[in-house]
Amino acid sequence: MTISTFQDFGDARQALNLSRPDLLRTQGYIDGEWVDGLDVLDVINPATGKRLGVVADLDDEAAEAAVAAAHAALPAWSARTAKDRAVILRRWFDLMCAHAWDLARLLTAEQGKPLSEAHGEVLYAASFIEWFAEEGKRAYGEVIPGHQQDKRLFVLRQPVGVVAAVTPWNFPAAMITRKAGPALAAGCTMVLKPSDLTPYTALALAVLGEEAGLPKGVFNVVPGQAEPIGRVLTGDPRVRKFTFTGSTAVGKMLAARCAQTVKSVSLELGGNAPFIVFADADLEQAVTGALASKYRNSGQTCVCANRFLVHRDVLEPFVAALRARIEGFVLGDGLKVDAQQGPLINPAAVDKVRRHVADALAKGASLVTGGEPPEGDGYFFQPTILTGVTADMLVCREETFGPVAGIMAFDTEAQAIALANDSAAGLAAYLYTRDLGRAWRVTEALEYGIVGLNTGIISTEVAPFGGIKESGIGREGSRHGLDEYLETKFVCMAVPAAGASA
Ligand code: SIN
Repeated sequence: MTISTFQDFGDARQALNLSRPDLLRTQGYIDGEWVDGLDVLDVINPATGKRLGVVADLDDEAAEAAVAAAHAALPAWSARTAKDRAVILRRWFDLMCAHAWDLARLLTAEQGKPLSEAHGEVLYAASFIEWFAEEGKRAYGEVIPGHQQDKRLFVLRQPVGVVAAVTPWNFPAAMITRKAGPALAAGCTMVLKPSDLTPYTALALAVLGEEAGLPKGVFNVVPGQAEPIGRVLTGDPRVRKFTFTGSTAVGKMLAARCAQTVKSVSLELGGNAPFIVFADADLEQAVTGALASKYRNSGQTCVCANRFLVHRDVLEPFVAALRARIEGFVLGDGLKVDAQQGPLINPAAVDKVRRHVADALAKGASLVTGGEPPEGDGYFFQPTILTGVTADMLVCREETFGPVAGIMAFDTEAQAIALANDSAAGLAAYLYTRDLGRAWRVTEALEYGIVGLNTGIISTEVAPFGGIKESGIGREGSRHGLDEYLETKFVCMAVPAAGASA
């Protein structure tokens, strides 16, 4: 039955005004074919709360077909030279850059972030393809000096095999390419399950991947519901690598399922980033960093500042400066206005933010600005500042994933470190100081995988991204990102002495 057609797009399709309308796909992409499901899922524009269109709701059978296709494509793809694969990946990168504004429009329509931010994400996403196209050529092995005279020892790096990737809605492009870039460059093939909230960007990437020359079965996209597709991807023994970006709770559950077939697992999970401002900090720099870290993507990033720890001596000027900057924010539909802040992803996200604010106020925090959704359509929430926040409040214990800056005061360096480390999460942390000794001491003491030192923006394809503690396993980006998709094979070779074998 053919259900997932374009018919439901109507005006929304025109409003997107794509120069390449064929980038907008509603079917899944398996073994180089566009496939329908038996049903469809609605895709909602969070800026309006209205239906943007539909996408195929593919089931477990489709997921199995995608795994079979990736498995069949593996021998030929992994046998190619890294240079050969790089030529195709480089073309994919070029196509993403050439169509960056179309991809950005799709991304804004389904995810909500302002168009300029979406465009930035598309270029960030493309950078992973470019980086790993090159890095794939450097999957070097080793020659180890032998432990016996008649032995020669080698280490080979080989693709891990079929990769299953489950990606989130907050970065619908970059979280895909940060996995697909290294996987495909290493010689693996992939089955991708994008978030059912933001499938269009993923499907547009598949269109461009095909155009770039990715052979059938190398990159498969299975839109649909998490449970049936996730069961196949975590359970099928042909999948040798499972990579997930999303919440800690879901990551733990998926990793437990992968344990049954002992898959290699990479997890990029939730954070609870402390943002520490010492009394000797450059306050203007700290406020600029806070804006970028906290309000980018309306606070819906795993690395965004979740808890502000500000030295008591600079609390007042810091709060005043931050307030002055966010009260001027333009909120709106990124496709229509030059918005600085977009909506949250759905009503549940708005409810969570509302609950965190209410919990903080009930426990004694003070509201400086914002605090509720504005009037009107869509899933917006006002940029918000709370002071007098304490460690027992939800804004400190959980990821708020919204535009709320909960601020608490501290008095000593030791107290700041203890408060910062008081979390099961360990993804990103930020600190602002002009004291070089303190910068090193605190950086070394922070139990986090990423530290932003006098900066609120830390993401780049050239550096390792990932967390410690319950924030995840493995690293993405940089030369370390390739390792996640390579196995290590040790070769022990006997070389008899001359004459011994005659
Ligand atoms: C994330 O929120 O997990 C990704 C953020 C980033 O890459 O900057």
